[in-house]
Amino acid sequence: MDVKKVLEAAIKDLQSAITEHDLYEVRVSYLGKKGKITELLKSLKDLSLEDKKSFGAELNSARESVEVFYQERISKIRGDEINQKLINESIDITFPPQNAIIAKAHPISKTFNEVISIFGSMGYEVAEGPDIETDFYNFSALNIPEDHPAREMQDTFYVNSLDEKNNPYVLRTHTSPVQIRTMLNSKPPIKIIAPGRTYRCDSDTTHSPMFHQVEGLFINESATMADLKGTLVEFCRKFFNVQELKVRFRPSYFPFTEPSAEMDIAYEIINDRLSIGTGNKWLEILGCGMVNPAVLENCKIDSNKFQGFAFGMGLDRITMLKHGLTDIRSFFNGNLNWIYKNGFGLGDF
Ligand code: DAH
Repeated sequence: MDVKKVLEAAIKDLQSAITEHDLYEVRVSYLGKKGKITELLKSLKDLSLEDKKSFGAELNSARESVEVFYQERISKIRGDEINQKLINESIDITFPPQNAIIAKAHPISKTFNEVISIFGSMGYEVAEGPDIETDFYNFSALNIPEDHPAREMQDTFYVNSLDEKNNPYVLRTHTSPVQIRTMLNSKPPIKIIAPGRTYRCDSDTTHSPMFHQVEGLFINESATMADLKGTLVEFCRKFFNVQELKVRFRPSYFPFTEPSAEMDIAYEIINDRLSIGTGNKWLEILGCGMVNPAVLENCKIDSNKFQGFAFGMGLDRITMLKHGLTDIRSFFNGNLNWIYKNGFGLGDF
């Protein structure tokens, strides 16, 4: 048997193997249990001692050569594979973006920023509170006792766990609990707004289960209903960018204010879009009033010395009015095309 020929054949086969799997098969066919070189090694036993030595040495060196060449080929194939991958996946960073998505600000985000900036220019600071509230902050401290019908005015989402007083936690139904948190944590004069998410079990074209409000609270020794009205009208003029805006204040009832009012803005629908400030339809945008002395006392503020006003405004409503949108639910159904049509360009805050 010519070992040289077997070795040459093995190297040729290894050279023509293209994949790692082919290489492996070739290796097995020479060095495996029934491989050609293995079979030859087995036949050594029938040879004379002398032949065994020389033939055995030749075979062993052939086996090593096959093994070494096999390893070289494997490394080469693996290296080629990686290089090919790098070529295929390379990115030309100098290439201009294709079909780039230009980010747009959601109309509600824009409203948040505008509200903070307008009230900020009037000296209001921003306060915050949690979305998941206790019964105390959302209701009782606001003068809404347990059996009070006002609790039913607000279709509450209850959370399946109890607070320290064994009442279920609630998703805050309004931003008014931030009034309580602020009054308990600071001393008058107080001048804050609290924009944020609110939740009620309600859904139609003007109600969404998750919506946004901004709370306002102003406490000093002399604030009046006239100050409240002036503040809100001034806000609306700036927010809607109109000097003459048809608004009306209607007497209302809230347990945490006395007296209480609601403010409506006039609108009409022209070509399927809302047009504000004119027309004879009214959209309620906020509730307000003079802070009920009972609430001040609940917050350890002397109601003989201090007084003030509060308001809670629907941010989704004023956004709809400002941009002529007719369905509040379109804000929240995550339709990107809608955002492209109604959102705002980068930097357009
Ligand atoms: N929290 C009330 C609501 O969501 C709105 C409101 C009314 C807030 C009067 C106030 C207020 O601060 O004074 O219906």
